[in-house]
Amino acid sequence: MCGIIGYLGKGCAQESLIDGLRRLEYRGYDSAGVAFHEGKSFSMARETGRVKNLATSVQKNSSSSSLGIAHTRWATHGAVTVSNTHPHVSNDGKFVMVHNGVIENFNTLKKFLIGKGFEFSSETDSEVLCNLIAYNYSELEPSEDRFIDAIRMALPQCRGAYGIAVLCLDFPDTMVGARRGSPLVVGLGEDANFIASDASAFVGRAKEAVFLNDGELAVLQGSEFRITTLEGHEAKAVSQPVDQISEEVELGDFGSYMEKEIYEQPSALKNTLRGRFGDDGTTAKLSGLEGHEEELRNLDRIIFVACGTARHACMVGEYLIERLARVPVEVEHASEFRYRNSPKAGKSLVIAVSQSGETLDTLEAVREAKTKGLLTLGITNVVGSSLARETDGGVYQRVGPEIGVASTKAFSSQACLCAMLGLALGRMRELSPMDGQAIVTALKDLPDLVSQVLQQGEQIRELAVKYSKADHLLFLGRQSLYPVALEGALKLKEISYAHAEGYPAAELKHGPIALISPECPSVFVVEGTELSAKTIANMQEVKARKGPVIAIAPQSVEIPEEAADDIFRLPDAHEVIRPILANLPLQLFAYHFALLRGLDVDKPRNLAKSVTVE
Ligand code: AGP
Repeated sequence: MCGIIGYLGKGCAQESLIDGLRRLEYRGYDSAGVAFHEGKSFSMARETGRVKNLATSVQKNSSSSSLGIAHTRWATHGAVTVSNTHPHVSNDGKFVMVHNGVIENFNTLKKFLIGKGFEFSSETDSEVLCNLIAYNYSELEPSEDRFIDAIRMALPQCRGAYGIAVLCLDFPDTMVGARRGSPLVVGLGEDANFIASDASAFVGRAKEAVFLNDGELAVLQGSEFRITTLEGHEAKAVSQPVDQISEEVELGDFGSYMEKEIYEQPSALKNTLRGRFGDDGTTAKLSGLEGHEEELRNLDRIIFVACGTARHACMVGEYLIERLARVPVEVEHASEFRYRNSPKAGKSLVIAVSQSGETLDTLEAVREAKTKGLLTLGITNVVGSSLARETDGGVYQRVGPEIGVASTKAFSSQACLCAMLGLALGRMRELSPMDGQAIVTALKDLPDLVSQVLQQGEQIRELAVKYSKADHLLFLGRQSLYPVALEGALKLKEISYAHAEGYPAAELKHGPIALISPECPSVFVVEGTELSAKTIANMQEVKARKGPVIAIAPQSVEIPEEAADDIFRLPDAHEVIRPILANLPLQLFAYHFALLRGLDVDKPRNLAKSVTVE
């Protein structure tokens, strides 16, 4: 959503803050700003556009301050303008603050403050919170806790989510952070301490990361720090060595993070799979499920909750887990599950899937499930993320940071873990050892087969060139390839801005076929089962109406020449890994399609990597 970083140390804050913003820019990149405590005043710089614009501005007026905060913004309230760019400063000039989240009752608070004589220069909720802190400060007697107490008084008046870092002119050696609903982590280093949205901001500069929980405050004073609750009680914080947080945020020789993350899927999937098969070679062993065997054995229902690409991976899981474990599975939009209040039906397990582990819609769905007393498991890629800490158990994806806003390797690892979950649950039930062994073999072969498909990348680039003028495309698939069709459509639209829709292949004739024309290509993902003939018939329905057809199909499927204009061949593979293989050409198609349009595949317009607001 937005990226926050604060620095308090012996050195110069400027370099660490700008470097940290660059590492956080994937969280939002509409505008960026920085504020330094200069003793008797704050110096500030704020620029619209990318962090590099701010870096240029800061270089012209460098600060030697050792205390500062910085922010890169994904706009929620107010247009992309300098005045709406963080940090915000209070009317009296005593406070500067950066914020990630949404203060839902900011209008009420703003009216109250205007009644007290405050004026506002931005449209943001964040400026309101900054002035609310200043107002509470003005109501307190001078004391060594006046700064922290003003924050403790202001935050309970707010509804909604916040992750903040705040400086006060009267306290030149103090930085305060607080979180509710938006992630915040303290970085502890030799010469400086940090507050940030996530630990990637201070990788290489801090040795330990201390993760805040909702309702907690971090107070950094000099070289000391403490974590307390809003009420002032000592809080036990989760900490871990920063070197566990991969430094794989370097681009290397790739042209973009998206390209890097597509092509590192073989190694990424090896990490996902590593050490996760039972000794007898017929099942998967997911340590995050240990201690829940009885509950898992007696499940009546599994409910997946997720958003976007993660939900598509869950939909692949729905098909695989029902087939392997014979447990009813539902996949819910996390945002819908939270309010739908579906009736409890027996023993249900809620599995939340989120690459970032910070998607607020998904987190709130987990909180609703826990309110109802349901067992919750999390599948996430970020160690120590809110999802990892708020679920009863879970599994890490282990694919390294995914920086490209368009999710690629995360989808593959999530779908792989869903297959492994289906295998594990199946072997707890009726799945035979032989079938289990075949699935284990297929999963172990997956990284090499992924490599094999990616080596055909040039053929996909040529397809993208051929169809790059299309502004409307359909993606179609059946069974576990229907979610792949949805994912292919999402990938294309979110980075190329072309309109794309995914449907079950059979659904085409129930309306969408009206869209078919020579200008609207259809991409069919063909199963490789007895259903292939039906999908080929759908392809012929499109061809009969002069619609271009691209088929993504396993080697062994015969496709009549008149049924497709272009065919991309996949290796024949076990059903549990077919969706992952079939999705690879769609990732590359979207990637090249967007490049051909001269677009930034890593930072598409209007998007952010982790959506930590509802
Ligand atoms: C995927 O390419 C999108 N960027 C988006 O749909 C994303 O998958 C969704 O916001 C969920 O993110 P999460 O996995 O971090 O929860």
